Parts: sequence; C-alpha cells; structure tokens
Amino acid sequence: MGIDSSSVCIIGGTGKMGSWLGTLFEADGLQVVSIGKDTVLKARDAVPLCKVVVVSVPISDAVEVISEVAPLVREETLLVDLTSIKSATMRAMLSLSKAQVAGVHPLFGPGETAGPSSRVALCPGRGKEGIQWIERFFKRKGFAVSMIDPETHDRMMGLIQGVNHFSTIVLALCMAESGFSLEDMTELSTASFMKRIERIHAMLAQPGELFQSLLMENKEAVGFLNNYHDQAGRLIGIVRKGDTAGFERIWKTITRFFGHNGKVLR
Ligand SMILES: NC(=O)c1ccc[n+]([C@@H]2O[C@H](COP(=O)([O-])OP(=O)(O)OC[C@H]3O[C@@H](n4cnc5c(N)ncnc54)[C@H](OP(=O)(O)O)[C@@H]3O)[C@@H](O)[C@H]2O)c1
Repeated sequence: MGIDSSSVCIIGGTGKMGSWLGTLFEADGLQVVSIGKDTVLKARDAVPLCKVVVVSVPISDAVEVISEVAPLVREETLLVDLTSIKSATMRAMLSLSKAQVAGVHPLFGPGETAGPSSRVALCPGRGKEGIQWIERFFKRKGFAVSMIDPETHDRMMGLIQGVNHFSTIVLALCMAESGFSLEDMTELSTASFMKRIERIHAMLAQPGELFQSLLMENKEAVGFLNNYHDQAGRLIGIVRKGDTAGFERIWKTITRFFGHNGKVLR
C-alpha cells in the first residue's frame, strides 16, 4: 500500500471506531492506512508520512500509544484522538508533539450513521486550519459537532457516561441475582422496562473493558457516583419511612429541573 503526504493514518484502524472513521474518510477519496497491533506496517513507519494521524485505541492504552507516536508527527500534520475521555490524551498530544491537535469523541457507538442525534464532541487543541478541517469533515458527513474544552467534557462524561452506565450495570446485576429468569421478566415487561433490557443488551454487545475504563479512568466519574449513591440512599430512606412529604420534595426538584409542573398528583 502506498502512503503519501495526503494519507490518513489510523492507529487502531482495525478496531470498531477506527474502521468506522476509516470508511468515512475513504468515502471522501482519502487514502487510509489502518494500523492494528499485528499489522505488518507499524505506526512509527506510517506516522511521519501522513497529513492526518488518528489514535483510536482502548482508553487504557491511549496515552502510551500517543507517547510513542506524537514525537514522530510532523508539525503541519493534524493529530486527532477518538478516546472517550479527553483531558489526559489532549495533554499528551499537545505536550509531546508540535502538530496541530484536535480531540474528538463520537457520542455514539460503532456503526452509527449520521443523523440529527449523532453528535461529535470536538476539543480544539492547536492549529486553526486542522481543527476547522476536522470540524467541516464531520459536519459534511451529517454529524452535529459541539466544541468543548477537555476538562468540562470529562466532567460532564462523569455523569453522562459514568452514572448512566453505572445505573445500567446496577439494574443488570439486580436482575441477574433476582431469582427470576430473563425469559419470565421479559414476558411480563412493561414497554419502559423492555427499553431498559434493550439498553443492557446494547451495553453487553461492547467489551466490558470499555465500561470499566469509562468508570475508573475518568477521574471525574467517582464524585458523581458518590452523589448517585447518596441520592439513592436518600430516596430509599423516604420510601422506607413512607415519607410522602419527602417524596413530594424530591419530585418537585426533578419536575422543575425537567420543565414539568412539579405536582405529585394530577
Ligand atoms: N466503542 C464505542 O462505543 C466508542 C464510542 C466513542 C469513542 N470510543 C473510543 O474509541 C477508541 C477505540 O474504541 P473501539 O471500541 O474502537 O476499540 P476496539 O474495537 O477494541 O479497537 C481498538 C483498536 O486499537 C488497536 N490497539 C489496541 N491496543 C493497541 C496498542 N497498544 N497499539 C496499537 N494499537 C492498539 C486494536 O488493534 P487490534 O485490532 O490489532 O487488536 C484495535 O485496532 C477508545 O478510546 C474508545 O474510548 C469508543
């Protein structure tokens, strides 16, 4: 495979998100060089030649891989990562390379096609031209793009991904240890419970390592998980005591936040 100065190198291009992005680049006529752990072509040989270098490896490997390749990236090259947690990778890309830098977090799983709800978070790092190029690329492909700094991104992901996946895992664990079979629970499921079961299946279709990293490697997650634990304890206390006034206070807080009328009874 020939590599030239217009090629895009995707480290992790043999994986789910890397191959998704590679297909999008190829549809734009770009030459894509995909690198995995066992590909014959190694990152160190391809990276110095390409105009865009993307790092799309598991969260736990991302900083190490960036540390290896960032010093090899040319100054005019755009260095991008797809990692779901942004602060550490952005710091590594900015400090270990002289390249243009952009952090990208697709807010969806592999296989997603463009649509109004398909959004990409973009953390601008260095170099206006490269950041505009990647922003325009995703917009042209039909994805919405939200600019955000890495620290705010990670803090929000502590809730949006951390608490969200945590509560799904807790529900899955409650079901697994309930003594009821999945078939029996599915047969008696309400529509909303079926949606929760579908969400559990979608989560389990991805490797557990991803969710472990989203919970353990985003240092912002644990504060939100503690708050989730405290809020659950508060609600359990209210339920145990039959504290209807307490329930009403909680209901008012959440209905106001979500723009409803705040009444427990209609
Ligand atoms: N999956 C999602 O829903 C999702 C959504 C948004 C963002 N992301 C982010 O996208 C990134 C990739 O996730 P994924 O789901 O695509 O993972 P994946 O399918 O497991 O792919 C990982 C890729 O990284 C390569 N790789 C692993 N360790 C490496 C190393 N030390 N050096 C070089 N290459 C290495 C793998 O090569 P081999 O093929 O040889 O194993 C593979 O190509 C993660 O940072 C994740 O946070 C994922």
